[in-house]
Amino acid sequence: MKSRYDNEMELEFLSKSNNEAFARITVAAFAAQLDPTIEELADIKTAVSEAVTNCIIHGYESTEGLIKIKATLLKNEIEIEISDNGKGIENVELARKPLYTTKGDLERSGMGFTIMESFMDEVEIHSVLDIGTKVIMRKKIKKQEDVEENAEKNEEKNALIN
Ligand SMILES: Nc1ncnc2c1ncn2[C@@H]1O[C@H](COP(=O)(O)OP(=O)(O)OP(=O)(O)O)[C@@H](O)[C@H]1O
Ligand SMILES: [Mg+2]
Repeated sequence: MKSRYDNEMELEFLSKSNNEAFARITVAAFAAQLDPTIEELADIKTAVSEAVTNCIIHGYESTEGLIKIKATLLKNEIEIEISDNGKGIENVELARKPLYTTKGDLERSGMGFTIMESFMDEVEIHSVLDIGTKVIMRKKIKKQEDVEENAEKNEEKNALIN
C-alpha cells in the first residue's frame, strides 16, 4: 500500500508513567529524520510529553489502558497523533484554556494544552465522553536549505528594491 506520507510509524504502550519518557524519546528519534534543530526537537519532546501525561493522568486516571501514537513525516512537516480510550473531555473549548484543570488539587497547573499549542504549529483535540481523546499536532521543521533559499530570495528582493 502506498502512503501519502514519506514515512510513518505507530506505537502502542500501557498508560504507565514510566512510558512517558519512552514515548517522547521514540518520537524524537523518528522526527530526527527531518533534521530538526535541537530546539525544534526539544519542542516536539515537550509537546509529546504533555499529551501522553494527559492520557495517563486524565484519560485513564487510576485505571490502566493503551495509549497509541501515530507519527507521520511529510516533506518538512511532522504530524503526531496521540490517543487514548479513556474517559474523554467534557468541554474541549474550556480544556484548551490556560490554567483550566479538573485536577487542581493534584499539583496540575492547567498548562498542558497551552504548552502544546505554543511549541507546535497546530493542535487539534477530538474527544468523546467515555470513548476517548485524540490530539493531533503538526509542526514544520525549518530545514537549513529552505532558510538559505529564503535568505537568497530576500537578498534578490532587496537588490530590486534598492
Ligand atoms: N487525554 C485526556 N483525557 C481526559 N481529559 C483530558 C485529557 N487531556 C486533557 N484533559 C482535560 O483537559 C484539562 C486541561 O489539560 P491540560 O493538559 O491543559 O492541563 P492539566 O493536565 O490539568 O495540567 P498540566 O498539564 O499543567 O499538568 C485537564 O485538566 C483534563 O480535565
Ligand atoms: Mg496536562
